[in-house]
Amino acid sequence: MSRKFAPKEKVELEPPKNDVYTASELSKYDGVQNPRIYVAVKGTIFDVTGKAQVYGPGGSYSIFAGKDGSKGLGKSSLKAEDANNDVDALTDDEKQVLDDWYSFFSQRYNIMGYLKM
Ligand code: HEM
Repeated sequence: MSRKFAPKEKVELEPPKNDVYTASELSKYDGVQNPRIYVAVKGTIFDVTGKAQVYGPGGSYSIFAGKDGSKGLGKSSLKAEDANNDVDALTDDEKQVLDDWYSFFSQRYNIMGYLKM
């Protein structure tokens, strides 16, 4: 397995859940409407509640809470309007950046399910 973007300390992950969320359901997991915080990358939903200081209200990356942040992650953009799943808007280089973020999230955060397409 690739060690790229591996966390410094090993993270014990639970088996991935297979639940399907609509964008509207996912949007509730923003640390406010629901105390848990989910962020989706390429349609896979990760539980980032453990990093609430970063993804929760007032956190540097709170724009991604309850969203599929694929476009913003690929473009290295923290603009709220880029926190969406429009991956077709990404260049090939940006798609590679997005894949690196997928690797980062998948090595740190439990998978709660998938965004309904
Ligand atoms: C001035 C520019 C920036 C600085 C100084 C900065 C700094 C950092 C630092 C120190 C970390 C923690 C790394 C670690 O835990 O090993 C981090 C994580 C992260 N950064 Fe940035 N960052 C910047 C810009 C951005 C931008 C533009 C994005 C937009 C995609 C971004 C997205 C993220 C994400 C998603 C994480 C992972 C947080 C986590 O789950 O632990 N950052 N950043």
